[in-house]
Amino acid sequence: MKTSFGPKKIMFPCPTSLVVTGTMESANIVTIAWVSLLTSQPPTLGISVGTRGFSGEAIKTNKDFTVNIATVDIMTEADFCGIRSGKDVDKFRETGLTKMPSSIVRSPIIKECPLNLECQLTDWRIIGRTNHFVGRIVETHVDTNLLKDPEDIGSININAFNPLIYIGGVREYRRLGEKTGDPYQIGNNLKR
Ligand SMILES: Cc1cc2nc3c(=O)[nH]c(=O)nc-3n(C[C@H](O)[C@H](O)[C@H](O)COP(=O)(O)O)c2cc1C
Repeated sequence: MKTSFGPKKIMFPCPTSLVVTGTMESANIVTIAWVSLLTSQPPTLGISVGTRGFSGEAIKTNKDFTVNIATVDIMTEADFCGIRSGKDVDKFRETGLTKMPSSIVRSPIIKECPLNLECQLTDWRIIGRTNHFVGRIVETHVDTNLLKDPEDIGSININAFNPLIYIGGVREYRRLGEKTGDPYQIGNNLKR
């Protein structure tokens, strides 16, 4: 048996990402759980940003942003960036998070986030009360000490990374559990 609720916005798990837009002098951070890779060639992602906050207009003005994946260690700071507006506070100053210059875009990255994606705005549209921004990923940074093989981005030590997971709908932060299998392989075990 199932209980039906009609149209609801419930989806989990989501990465807790911190989106930065602006310059080294004027950057703002917004917590965004609605983020998704869109295409692999060119590497492109999409983020959904409400029209009533500070960040939507700022991204349209700046034409770039960075996506920084939060860890459990900065849960309180990440939550703060999701409950306060850049209209009212300097979130870098209030949280103590550290901005670092990006390589290509003007928006800075966050030092405390082990994975940082530099994005150039390529498209956007409003659906309902939300801006949908498409960002082409033009550079990717990973903390070197988390790489088992310094030449392979796929060798990130996920346990050491300890990403902060957001459970939408239920409204909980969680950490990742254990590895359960090898994607694109384990399915071969199903013999027909
Ligand atoms: C865990 C979490 C996830 C959030 N995800 C989103 C999101 O995906 N899209 C969005 O527009 N707002 C999201 N928010 C709310 C914004 O972060 C919040 O409205 C923020 O204060 C806007 O800041 P700004 O005015 O500086 O842009 C989230 C908040 C939290 C705490």
